[in-house]
Amino acid sequence: MKNRKNMANQFINKFTLMAIICLVFFACSEKPSRKEQEPNLSLKEAFKDEFYIGSAINRFQIEETDSVMASLLGREFNSITAENIMKSMIIHPQRDTFNFELADKFVALGEKYDMFVHGHTLIWHSQLSPWFSSIEDSLEFATATEKHVKDLAQHFKGKLGSWDVVNEALNEDGTLRNSIFLKKMGENYLASAFKWTAEVDPSADLYYNDYNMTNPEKRQGAIRMVKKIIDQGIKVDGIGMQGHWHLNSPTLEEIEQSILDYSELGVKVAITELDVSVLPNPWDLEGAEISQNFENSEEMNPYTEGLPDSIQVKLANRYKDIFAIFLKHQDKISRVTFWGVSDGQSWLNGFPIRGRTNYPLLFDRSLRPKAAYDSIIALKKRFDIKNQTN
Ligand code: G3I
Repeated sequence: MKNRKNMANQFINKFTLMAIICLVFFACSEKPSRKEQEPNLSLKEAFKDEFYIGSAINRFQIEETDSVMASLLGREFNSITAENIMKSMIIHPQRDTFNFELADKFVALGEKYDMFVHGHTLIWHSQLSPWFSSIEDSLEFATATEKHVKDLAQHFKGKLGSWDVVNEALNEDGTLRNSIFLKKMGENYLASAFKWTAEVDPSADLYYNDYNMTNPEKRQGAIRMVKKIIDQGIKVDGIGMQGHWHLNSPTLEEIEQSILDYSELGVKVAITELDVSVLPNPWDLEGAEISQNFENSEEMNPYTEGLPDSIQVKLANRYKDIFAIFLKHQDKISRVTFWGVSDGQSWLNGFPIRGRTNYPLLFDRSLRPKAAYDSIIALKKRFDIKNQTN
């Protein structure tokens, strides 16, 4: 009995010794974990050789009232667009009054983080300062519009990388929107706006920007319109495809073909307002026509308690597929800007139905990166590895 106990003890001692040796061996030989090996890439670092990664920012982000948000913005993005504060209603509230305070802070923030700063927008029929509509006489309207464009371009001269000179001038069938600018000034307002801006700030890139730019009829209209301006010898540097998209539309083919078609004009293509709505789409509404609004209901607002994993995965795959196209055509794309940093901030919580809970961006309401963020970074890492081995 004693012998057997001794043998058992000897066996346990040998076993323990071997286990310790193995543990020490593996602990010494173990490679550093993936995390220790390569720190996580931020979005802007991941795509630094391809295109700018931007975000639209609001007044609180401009004033850096939330330090976590401020450091997230500085870490992940290298371009900013003002979501609202450079629209005429805010920046030029009365005919002789400009309100540059916030916009100047916006530019200073871009300088602080060494970002590409984009101006949004010089001519837009929406959020238009009321004084425009009070001008009856067409000639007076044209003179005031020219002054609006030139005064803004002058104030920011040399400080902005690019401007949305004209925003949303087209109908869905590609014809010109019957905006106050078209009514008062005729089609020529388009070319004039680009000419005035270029005269004042020749170094800024000048863009035409619109939603539903993947829709074939609207696409043809945009191409016709921009070509007409360029053919007059007036500078247009780029086309902005806003990119207010859904989980299933537009198709990847439509997105890719649009990038190709626009770049055929010899201009840059920017994705200027990217977000992907995961919520039911009333009457299959496309785009960002903000005059449209519908009734809220439980059926139309299904994820108030959080986004189910299955939809989180769909969103991640959708972003991965979209970014695969952007990477494929990186030589044509100057900038990819998200319309906001985090889900809680998105305009899509209020459009086209007010008071919904949407999840269209890469960071959640607590500013944590979502699966969609990881899918884009992982895609880029695979892309780089493939390119290195080719
Ligand atoms: O600032 C006022 C606030 O004082 C007031 O209490 C509140 C009450 O509703 O309204 C606030 O203004 C809102 C503003 O956003 C700032 O939050 C406006 O009502 C609201 O209409 C406005 O919506 C903006 C919309 O453009 C209209 O300008 C969205 O935030 C903005 O994301 C959206 O952005 C547009 C692009 O400029 C052009 N492309 C489409 C895109 C989405 O619609």
